[in-house]
Amino acid sequence: MRWVDVLPAILTCASLSSAAQSPFHAAVTGSPPSEVSRGSNGSWHLNDTPAANATGHLVFETVSSLLQHWPNTRYRNGHTIVPGVIPSGTLLYHGTEQPVVPEVPEWVATDPEHSHVFCRGPAQSGCWQLTLAATRPLRVLYFDGTSASKMEDGPMDSQDVVSWGEPKPEWVFKEPERINDLCEWGRQHALDGYVRMEMDFEIMLCNLTSGVKVVSFLNLPVLPAFPNDPDQNFLAFETMNAGHWHNRYPGDERVQLDLTRLISFYDISLLPSLIPQRAGQERWDHRILGADPAELLAIRTHLESTLANKHQGSGVDWQTLFRVVIKRYADRLELVQYLLNSTEHVPATTQDEYERAAKVQLQLRIMLIPYILHSSVPSRFSASNLADLSWAEPVFTECATMHTAAIVSDFVIALTPSEKLLLRAIQETTREICRVVVRMWAEGVESGLDPYLPIEVEEPNVTAVMWKWQGDLNGLMGWLDWSVWIKCRPACGFEEICYLPTWPVGFRHRRRRPDFPLPNEPEDNDEWRRPQPKCIRRIEPYGF
Ligand SMILES: *[C@@H]1O[C@H](CO)[C@@H](O)[C@H](O)[C@H]1NC(C)=O
Ligand SMILES: *[C@@H]1O[C@H](CO)[C@@H](O)[C@H](O)[C@H]1NC(C)=O
Ligand SMILES: *[C@@H]1O[C@H](CO)[C@@H](O)[C@H](O)[C@H]1NC(C)=O
Ligand SMILES: *[C@@H]1O[C@H](CO)[C@@H](O)[C@H](O)[C@H]1NC(C)=O
Ligand SMILES: *[C@@H]1O[C@H](CO)[C@@H](O)[C@H](O)[C@H]1NC(C)=O
Repeated sequence: MRWVDVLPAILTCASLSSAAQSPFHAAVTGSPPSEVSRGSNGSWHLNDTPAANATGHLVFETVSSLLQHWPNTRYRNGHTIVPGVIPSGTLLYHGTEQPVVPEVPEWVATDPEHSHVFCRGPAQSGCWQLTLAATRPLRVLYFDGTSASKMEDGPMDSQDVVSWGEPKPEWVFKEPERINDLCEWGRQHALDGYVRMEMDFEIMLCNLTSGVKVVSFLNLPVLPAFPNDPDQNFLAFETMNAGHWHNRYPGDERVQLDLTRLISFYDISLLPSLIPQRAGQERWDHRILGADPAELLAIRTHLESTLANKHQGSGVDWQTLFRVVIKRYADRLELVQYLLNSTEHVPATTQDEYERAAKVQLQLRIMLIPYILHSSVPSRFSASNLADLSWAEPVFTECATMHTAAIVSDFVIALTPSEKLLLRAIQETTREICRVVVRMWAEGVESGLDPYLPIEVEEPNVTAVMWKWQGDLNGLMGWLDWSVWIKCRPACGFEEICYLPTWPVGFRHRRRRPDFPLPNEPEDNDEWRRPQPKCIRRIEPYGF
């Protein structure tokens, strides 16, 4: 398409949107902001940090990570339960020793690479691969995190709440009981299965003759699994590699989630008892075990009424809204962090340092262009009092409310309780991004670093500004902790993939699935607890 063809359309859109903008903007600024539009704290001071018990950023990051292998491998202890459907026609795979369709609940995989690990049997007769296709939309519940890893440390907490009313770490290997109890419980809600993740995604399917039909039942040769030779174990590697196809958004698309009925264990209104337990903990260690049993029972009741309810959501596309926020800020914050990282290396000259600070200042302004008002100028023309940045607060307000103001003004009555949680998550998250970025930008202005708001400053201490910026930005990015920033640096070579320690690979001192052929037993170290990315080979010898 040529640009001349497109241009009139763009111009039309632009004039339409500016016409639509004015009344909307007036509605937001012309009436007193409601509690919900003001975020968690009613004030807009640039020094108001989020409450220590706030979980909006955790809800934001977990919801943004649903069905994606990478973030759910990094943080195994899931905190979200979401109803969803598997569309008609979707293929599901089951590996087995017998050419008999099971009459009991069984595990199926979304990728044959995963089910093949269970295609076993004597070499003479081979093994069997059952391929099923959904004949109607299958109703499922999804447990996020590495929810199929048989670990006592928390990945199974949320499903235990559904199957047994509370986490039961001592029952991690009671998989037959778990699937039976989940299916028994789900019958009243016409649930067909439960979606979980380990090296790849799987579904605990309650009835292999209901809602699915047999596409094929193939007799395959049994391949060697090399359980003791990690360098040769291509079956284990390829299972994980298939999981990696779903690493980043949108993840495994064969499951379609209904976020309007999502339940989060980070919802502090449902689970206040977890607040003190999480205090001072890193996210790896967050658990549901330890919550007030009455709150856990209430969660299950809440889930049951949510499933029974036919209510429609507001129509807001939450997943896309979350993506918009991530897209607008993820790369830019990372770029500013990169520019500030060079602060570590003391610059050759003051001029060098000034130029680098000016580059940062421009990036900060670029992030805020849609919100910096014509009237946003420092009230004084001296930088004698850096603490008074109140002139920049309208920029903060616009930045922090832009993405949600229309939802607040037009849809808030239509929101389900889950959608209200999602709204608060976006509000709290954008509020903190905007607070920190606006404050950094305003400090840069006051230090005479912004050529578009020039201020006479006598000998600004640019080094001090850079150090403060770095502290603030690292604090923000640590608080957000977005998985999009977790990658191998430097990037992996063509023969490699970027890998996070993945259960059950290399969990020597953990109890493991007894029937899962395991590749290797590396050092007993902290890797399993705080998975860090590293490059591993994707063709043998693997070395993972
Ligand atoms: C809310 O703002 C006030 C006024 O600046 C501040 O004192 C207070 O600590 C803030 N509360 C929270 C929960 O952030
Ligand atoms: C969270 O912290 C704020 C201020 O720090 C406090 O006012 C509030 O009561 C706390 N909320 C809960 C549920 O503990
Ligand atoms: C599975 O579904 C089939 C077909 O709807 C039904 O006949 C059978 O009773 C179901 N099995 C169980 C265990 O519910
Ligand atoms: C900046 O440095 C920190 C600490 O060394 C590091 O974790 C981060 O990845 C770096 N960021 C960029 C964008 O280079
Ligand atoms: C500038 O700030 C740095 C870091 O805070 C400090 O070490 C240095 O002494 C300051 N320089 C001047 C000239 O004040």
